[in-house]
Amino acid sequence: MTSEVRVARLSAADVPRYRTLMLHAYAAAADAFTSTPEERAAEPESWWVRRIDDPKGLSFALGAFAGDELVGTVTVEFAAKPKTRHKAHLIGMFVHEAARGLGAGRALLEAALAAAASREGVRVVTLTVTEGNAPAISLYEACGFRAFGTEPMAIATPDGFKGKVHMWLELPKAT
Ligand SMILES: CC(C)(COP(=O)(O)OP(=O)(O)OC[C@H]1O[C@@H](n2cnc3c(N)ncnc32)[C@H](O)[C@@H]1OP(=O)(O)O)[C@@H](O)C(=O)NCCC(=O)NCCS
Repeated sequence: MTSEVRVARLSAADVPRYRTLMLHAYAAAADAFTSTPEERAAEPESWWVRRIDDPKGLSFALGAFAGDELVGTVTVEFAAKPKTRHKAHLIGMFVHEAARGLGAGRALLEAALAAAASREGVRVVTLTVTEGNAPAISLYEACGFRAFGTEPMAIATPDGFKGKVHMWLELPKAT
């Protein structure tokens, strides 16, 4: 695996490889996500297109590439309602096991934050992370996210219920 990682926005043409990566993610990092591979495998093409390049402009995905290979991703969601559209929400963060520790996660997160900050009126970015997911929590804290609470018993896992830590970051005011 090359150590050069490039981050770019995904488009509808990337649905097949994004879908393959995320169906792997829902199985390989099952406790990190609230969806199962079976639920997602049943989603139509239109669901995947909305996830990575929403025709209404309310979400898009970034991809991390090692050479031409899609090795990681994160999706940025925006709120449509006037009272909450200052908030963006990150979901679906995953880096393939073979590409971890090379900076892909940090590059994706920094690019997602830059994209959120460049959207007019967006001031806050939120996310949730499963309690005990040390690599992800370290990454988020390193980029400025702070926990503001934990939802108890948020997801059922084979090892019992686990909580979801809610994190937020206030973007710097535009100058
Ligand atoms: C969390 C995840 C995205 C990190 O991706 P990555 O490409 O390996 O991360 P990076 O190489 O960019 O590392 C960035 C930072 O993350 C943290 N980090 C990454 N791996 C870590 C580990 N094993 N233990 C502790 N901290 C870790 C560190 O703060 C690191 O900064 P440093 O390199 O200065 O120490 C990856 O482990 C992953 O996909 N995990 C499974 C899915 C998941 O948990 N997604 C999050 C859902 S909320």
